[in-house]
Amino acid sequence: MQEKEISQAVIGRLPRYLRYLGDLKERNIERISSQELSSLMNVTASQIRQDFNNFGGFGQQGYGYNVEYLYDEISKILGLNHSHNFVIIGAGNLGKALGNYLNFERRGFIFKGMFDKNPELIGQKVRDVEIKPMEDLEVFLRENTIDIAVLTIPKTGAVGLVDTLVDNGIKAIWNFAHVDLDVPEGVQVENVHLSDSLMKLSYNISRYNDGKEN
Ligand code: NAI
Repeated sequence: MQEKEISQAVIGRLPRYLRYLGDLKERNIERISSQELSSLMNVTASQIRQDFNNFGGFGQQGYGYNVEYLYDEISKILGLNHSHNFVIIGAGNLGKALGNYLNFERRGFIFKGMFDKNPELIGQKVRDVEIKPMEDLEVFLRENTIDIAVLTIPKTGAVGLVDTLVDNGIKAIWNFAHVDLDVPEGVQVENVHLSDSLMKLSYNISRYNDGKEN
């Protein structure tokens, strides 16, 4: 919808805005000033204005932001006005935890299939989705218009799967395997490393403690 290239830093902040706006909507709050949003989210009002200016503002002088409108616009920017079907590959601890998480559906991400190479898992269910063998993957992807593959398998398996996924219509990979994937142009990869977040936490603990010692 917007011509301008938006920085990944701004895009990275949008889901948090959406979460807060969703909460406000649930509380039937119709409008909010950038000042109020700022203290609620612990972000400066100027940061909020700058972020929203990337998309033409959304606010009105003296009125603030209309919560529902802002929520809808940010949803559109994030492509959440369309739903996306996804499959999970790797039905271990992490794959099952993600499959059991109901809130993805609320955002339009529909859990359609789950695959694993371990014969003992085949036929088990995660919610109402049956775990299928890898041999069924290609046909399943084609027949169910799956956009997103979630990879919760070790890195050795992940690399060799990319071509199969892409050749069968996968447009995006949510990659939990600890490896960088080489994908053709137009295929999106989002790497998730929970330990990165923990290391940030560790850094902040050390920084805080060092500050107290000085
Ligand atoms: P897990 O061992 O419980 O599950 C892995 C599952 O993947 C097993 O069911 C196994 O049969 C299946 N699998 C292995 N290779 C496969 C292949 N080539 N094709 C299809 N299925 C295959 O492990 P867990 O805890 O669920 O973790 C999964 C992977 O995600 C691990 O490699 C782990 O290192 C990684 N991980 C990444 C995190 C992150 O933040 N990025 C956090 C936790 C785990």
